Amino acid sequence: MNVRLLTWCAPAVALIALTASPAPAAAQIAATPPMGWNSWNHFHRNISDQIVRAQADAMVSSGMRDAGYVYVNIDDTWQGDRDAQGIIHPNSKFPDMKALADYVHSKGLKLGIYSSPGAKTCAGYEGSLGHEQQDADTYAQWGIDYLKYDLCGLRTQLQAAPSPEAAHQMMVDAYTKMRDALKKAGRPIVYSLCQYGNDAVWRWGTDVGGNLWRTTGDINDHYNRMEEIGFSQAGLARFAGPGHWNDPDMLEVGNGGMNADEYRTHMSLWVILAAPLLAGNDLSTMTPETIAMLTNRDVIAIDQDRLGRQGDRVYAEGPIEVWAKPLADGSKAIGIFNRHPRPMAETVDFGRLGFHGTVHARDVWDAKDLTISGSQTFTIPGHGVVLLRVK
Ligand code: GLA
Repeated sequence: MNVRLLTWCAPAVALIALTASPAPAAAQIAATPPMGWNSWNHFHRNISDQIVRAQADAMVSSGMRDAGYVYVNIDDTWQGDRDAQGIIHPNSKFPDMKALADYVHSKGLKLGIYSSPGAKTCAGYEGSLGHEQQDADTYAQWGIDYLKYDLCGLRTQLQAAPSPEAAHQMMVDAYTKMRDALKKAGRPIVYSLCQYGNDAVWRWGTDVGGNLWRTTGDINDHYNRMEEIGFSQAGLARFAGPGHWNDPDMLEVGNGGMNADEYRTHMSLWVILAAPLLAGNDLSTMTPETIAMLTNRDVIAIDQDRLGRQGDRVYAEGPIEVWAKPLADGSKAIGIFNRHPRPMAETVDFGRLGFHGTVHARDVWDAKDLTISGSQTFTIPGHGVVLLRVK
């Protein structure tokens, strides 16, 4: 997705800021950031009923389900044609969507699907334009639990709009229309907005019913892109909370393009950001290291903390960044990140992080308990992190 195509909408931000109102309903679902898996990052267009079933199986056998992963999300390219009544049917790779949902549900998991407010999706498949209620009803009838609604196909209309404000309104209307359709369909469905953070979606995502909204363009399996996205989230914390989350895109952990320290940074940043944890790898071929990283209970607990506060940057000092996330039990998750490719030593003054006297810290990746008085020096691997839970 070329984000630049839509950046001319940015002047509308000031207008939106004046009209934004606090979060309405929908808080009963996605009370904590959604966890699960999505097909796109690894499989792209090569998905099928069989692959989705295998992912559901692996989510259970790997222990991911028991660690909190629930949603099995089919991304773009499941769609077939509409029939004479306009009802959407899956393509031949998905012979029976209801049977697939039943299968996923039988494993104690939930099924997600993907569409666009435009006539076509990003991959050129059938979108929902003009069929919003029919599609919402069809999803509900199949037993769908999560919808990712990807702006893509509406780009041409947005570009033809007479002004940035008109384009913004068109986008808001499109997302509102599907929100209302889902509501009318009568099944609780997590509503995931995907429009790459345009028009500062965090200011109005809740108003159009979003339970989460992408804040950036697409991630890929390279450290540079992951860190660009992750560290760019500073300042967005106040827009997230139970039922409505910032979404810096899906995980790449296990896809092979980053080393173990870089994937730890990826996981650590995402949990401090209270980001949705949607694994984007092939769950049926995971190494024990990938499973351990995705299912680390202490790490997941930071993301899923019931307080629902997104963390933020406390300070940056050259390549070292220290981020903190407040947690329900009064402790804080602290991430000490090293963006330099070589290891660096950093002395952290815990007073600067709001801690006084002796503090107890759990190094959650290394599973070590530390007692710290005042300050402590850490050696952080290149592109790596030390992630602590501090009381
Ligand atoms: C966009 C989205 C991706 C993915 C693809 C599918 O690029 O941002 O996450 O859904 O479309 O075509």
